Amino acid sequence: MGRLPLFFLIAACLCTSGCSGCAEKSGIIPRPAEMEFMPGYFSSSNLECSGLGQSLRSYIAGHTALDWYFAEDGNIRFITSSEDAPYNTDEAYNLNISRDSIIVTAASDRGFFYAITTILQLMDNNGGKLPCAVISDRPSYPWRGLMIDVSRHFFSTDFIKKQIDAMAYLKLNRLHLHLTDAAGWRIEIDRYPELTSIAAWRTGREWKDWWFGDRKYLPEGTTGAYGGYYTKEELRDLVEYADARNITIVPEIEMPGHSEEVLAVYPELSCTGEPYRHGDFCVGKDEVYTFLTNVLDEVMEIFPSEYIHIGGDEAVKASWEKCPDCLDLMEKIGADNVNQLQSHFIHRIREYVESKGRIMIGWDEILQGGAPPSAVVMAWRSIDEGIKSANSGHMTIMAPGSHCYLNTYQDNPDLLPPAMGGYTPLSKVYAFNPAGGFPDTSSRAAGRILGIQGNVWAEYIPTEEILEMMIYPRLFAIAENGWNPDAEKYYPEFRERASTVCGNMREKGYNTFDIDCEYGERRESLTPVRHLGTDKDVIYNAPYSSAYPAAGEKALTDGLRGGWTYSDGRWQGFISKDRLDVTVDLGEITGISSVYACFMQVCGPEVFLPAETVISVSNDNITFKELKRIEKETVMDDRVRFENIGWEGADSARYVRYQARSGKYGGFVFTDEIVIM
Ligand code: ACM
Ligand code: ZN
Repeated sequence: MGRLPLFFLIAACLCTSGCSGCAEKSGIIPRPAEMEFMPGYFSSSNLECSGLGQSLRSYIAGHTALDWYFAEDGNIRFITSSEDAPYNTDEAYNLNISRDSIIVTAASDRGFFYAITTILQLMDNNGGKLPCAVISDRPSYPWRGLMIDVSRHFFSTDFIKKQIDAMAYLKLNRLHLHLTDAAGWRIEIDRYPELTSIAAWRTGREWKDWWFGDRKYLPEGTTGAYGGYYTKEELRDLVEYADARNITIVPEIEMPGHSEEVLAVYPELSCTGEPYRHGDFCVGKDEVYTFLTNVLDEVMEIFPSEYIHIGGDEAVKASWEKCPDCLDLMEKIGADNVNQLQSHFIHRIREYVESKGRIMIGWDEILQGGAPPSAVVMAWRSIDEGIKSANSGHMTIMAPGSHCYLNTYQDNPDLLPPAMGGYTPLSKVYAFNPAGGFPDTSSRAAGRILGIQGNVWAEYIPTEEILEMMIYPRLFAIAENGWNPDAEKYYPEFRERASTVCGNMREKGYNTFDIDCEYGERRESLTPVRHLGTDKDVIYNAPYSSAYPAAGEKALTDGLRGGWTYSDGRWQGFISKDRLDVTVDLGEITGISSVYACFMQVCGPEVFLPAETVISVSNDNITFKELKRIEKETVMDDRVRFENIGWEGADSARYVRYQARSGKYGGFVFTDEIVIM
């Protein structure tokens, strides 16, 4: 953006203030650092009529042209000065709204821009009127981002621009585009035309049909081919559009993993040279570095972003262990394992990115085998990975899946379109403080937190409407936590603001999730259940999964029922080879009338309802009497299912054994409690 005068004063017509008795609604997201309201409104009773509203709106919806600051339309006069820049960040601003003037102080156009978004939100929240207020505001973090995955499903540039407008409204400043992945390459690269003439087009529209189907690509224009890509011209236009709204577009080019689409069209870049066999580049071949640096050259030519994201997540690495080129390289560099080989690859790419004056970002797996300190880490696997990264000297962006992945369910899955799974309601995103996991938030390590980002992976998001519904209002909480995470947190107050801003956004044509109709957490999980087995010992005839222990040995008799996601620490997981096989010791022979357990099913991550369940009883834990055997066919679908499976009758026993196994698809079974009545 161009430079702006350091100070300007907007004076407007001296109409009656009107509505001074009304309680103004702040409703601003993110909440300003300091804000005080005064009685009355800026002098026009209807700013939309005065022309000010329209000017502001055309600024935000238009582009960087700041000429209107100096325009005079009869009602508005702009005066500039160069005093009193607040705070030590160019995104800060002071805003003083009185009955007859609006004074904005800022050190740069970024600060002015955010003052304007604050004015816009105030007007939206107050029926077009602007309440008198003194606001002193600045962000806590320089990185406040949103990632959109345009590979798994492709989204138009108009749609991306619409999201950029919303990001600007929320004072977010980084749009990370996940431009490449197995599901489709989305950026025109002159040197490698097959990336967009074939690798951008797949055989099925819906990602899940394609992923669980043939996973093939088709030449552009073939009947049935789904996909798309952005031309360089379109991307440059997007960059400019975003820049005018204080937003930098950060491109991500995946490497060395998640690259099936590239290796389908350039199989010589894989370890065996065969198409449709690999997702990882061969890191032992020089041609791979030539390809990637050529691609990065064209990417950096389009995107002026200081930061370039090179992916780095979830490389399988298995082919490297058998590939002569990879093994040769390992020997040459003295690497003992494939993590060190990956680390060598990342170092080489980082050197290249830095030689071009940019900074490399990678997902937190780039720390495997060691990463150079100058690499910026985007922590996604956990909050702890982010803390580890910052502790080891890396600037770190917090995007933990637990709190910042916006492709999970945000409410009762039955009421929402199918999603990836999980459960991340607005309250959970809001509860996340980027530096909150550090023992001392003023420590040097905590100071390496560059900011926060919300990520939307689009595997289960085939339409723009669903994408918006996944983003809003959860992105509001990302914006708040990046701008003002240390404000006293009171979720009901935030939710009220979120509801107001959702209303504003719906009026602007966004399909937000309706937070006012939120159902909330699974009812069963809200109140502990008491039963004959409560707190009794559980004998594990087969082990539970170490990845999903819940509360360990007591998880199935602690009375705590699980919520909407199996990863909430209440659901205990059992992998199919081990099955669920537990015996509850009631301590003495006890009359029983029912035994049941609830299971959940989410097919994507291979969590299934049991195909076979056996409930039996014993008095000596040696000889068991079968009470019930239940067999069920596994129905594969998109729904998240919960089902109680049990026995009812009249019997007595000291030991109650519950066995369950998944069917032909393997995977996991998960349960939360063996309830004995
Ligand atoms: C990721 O979610 N694989 C970064
Ligand atoms: Zn190789």
